[in-house]
Amino acid sequence: MESSEQRQTAGEFVPVDAFDIVVFGATGDLATRKLLPALFHRWRDRQVPQGARIIATARAEMTTLAFRDMAMAACVEHNPGEAFDPAQLAAFFALVDYHTLDAGELGADWAGLGALLDPNPDKIRLFYLALPPGLFGPVCANIAASGLKTENTRIVLEKPIGTDLESARAINDAVGRAFPEKAIFRIDHYLGKETVQNLLILRFANAMFEPVWNARGIDHVQITVAETLGAGKRASYYDGAGALRDMVQNHLLQLLCLVAMEPPLDLDADSVRDEKLKVLRALKPIAPANIRDVTVRGQYRAGGVGGAHAPAYAEELGRDSDTETFVAIKAEIENWRWSGVPFYLRTGKRMSARRSEIIIQFKDVPHVLTGAAAGALQPNRLVLRLQPDEAVRLMLMTKEPGPGALKLRYVPLNLSYADTFKARYPDAYERLLIGVLRGNLGLFMRRDEVEAAWSWVDGILDAWAGDKTPVHKYAAGADGPAAADVMIADGKRSWYEEA
Ligand code: BG6
Repeated sequence: MESSEQRQTAGEFVPVDAFDIVVFGATGDLATRKLLPALFHRWRDRQVPQGARIIATARAEMTTLAFRDMAMAACVEHNPGEAFDPAQLAAFFALVDYHTLDAGELGADWAGLGALLDPNPDKIRLFYLALPPGLFGPVCANIAASGLKTENTRIVLEKPIGTDLESARAINDAVGRAFPEKAIFRIDHYLGKETVQNLLILRFANAMFEPVWNARGIDHVQITVAETLGAGKRASYYDGAGALRDMVQNHLLQLLCLVAMEPPLDLDADSVRDEKLKVLRALKPIAPANIRDVTVRGQYRAGGVGGAHAPAYAEELGRDSDTETFVAIKAEIENWRWSGVPFYLRTGKRMSARRSEIIIQFKDVPHVLTGAAAGALQPNRLVLRLQPDEAVRLMLMTKEPGPGALKLRYVPLNLSYADTFKARYPDAYERLLIGVLRGNLGLFMRRDEVEAAWSWVDGILDAWAGDKTPVHKYAAGADGPAAADVMIADGKRSWYEEA
């Protein structure tokens, strides 16, 4: 029989094959804020087939009814813009059972969990580990040892996979002892975003970009992921990570790969992941001698975001810390296509606005025609606005209409998603969960990608460890410290902020 994956490849929209999903850590933030609402939305869109079951597990002693009430309330609370139909919610949550289980313990009630699962070995069995990474290995071993692993079992892991290369390898080894790589789906939720998926289409379904998509056509690339939120309640977790581990190692490097990779042979998972891996391996290691020139660390002090007072990071954490809440990096890719083209990466919390954006800045025109004021010319830029206000903008120089002297204007050709597409934008987790069920590994990170990313990030962490420069403070509500502007300014560059 044709699987739903094959039918989906043919472009037909169909429900996924029947599945049992087990969510470990089901009382936690990720499960109640993202996973269950995502499954609800797909159920409402009729993608969840008859016979699908969701088994929520956590250590807390709780009845199924109490769990459903708690999860339904969370679903409503975390989707404030949405008018939920209580009858629909109740119908969806009737698919959800709760089972108390300390998944890190082999002696826990695994048999009870097994009894809730469909014994049919052909049914997709998905274990979602919404757990701290230290538990990934032990829980996978326990799943296998309790006989719950079938041929059709898939494991979903959340980032962070480790805190450096060594710990990432240890986790990957432990998980890999219980499950083959093709059954492991490592989430980077940026890969589930609509506009991130569009990067491949934009680049490889339009012929006009490829001839200039290289060091001859492009001056530099900027990737900015700015947030207005602070570390807040996550401060104690976040303090052990910082912006480099939390955002750059995964989300920003994945974006960089999609911008920089060679055209894959096809859209098969490994074709795409092979090309991304080559980019990661071509990243120029950052040497301790350069660390101050090519990286900037920042941390927010008190300030104002969106008109409201925002406390300092240290205040949220309850003590002083050197952890960076902002990082800017000048990265370089040492290969034929990108030699000499800097990729400026920037991410931070408590910045002026929430904005994820990729700027491809093309070269200046080679010769300025007489009559055009030289200083008035700006280089073409392709602005890929990932969120919010999703858009693709190509900035062009244009003659301003009208009599009198030649006046030039820098204007966008603007593809605004809101004006062009009327579709609902599903949360990244919806696409990712359906992606796991369809076996679409291309939406997930392969082991070698994760490790190559850590290998580059480790170099920066090591260099920082030996560097005495204090973390630069920036006011909450500012776009990072001034040192980041200095870093990008070599030549005549600056961070692109839309007028
Ligand atoms: C997560 C980070 O991976 O991504 C968070 O751990 C960050 O610190 C979040 O806030 C940002 O995701 P998004 O989808 O809101 O851009």
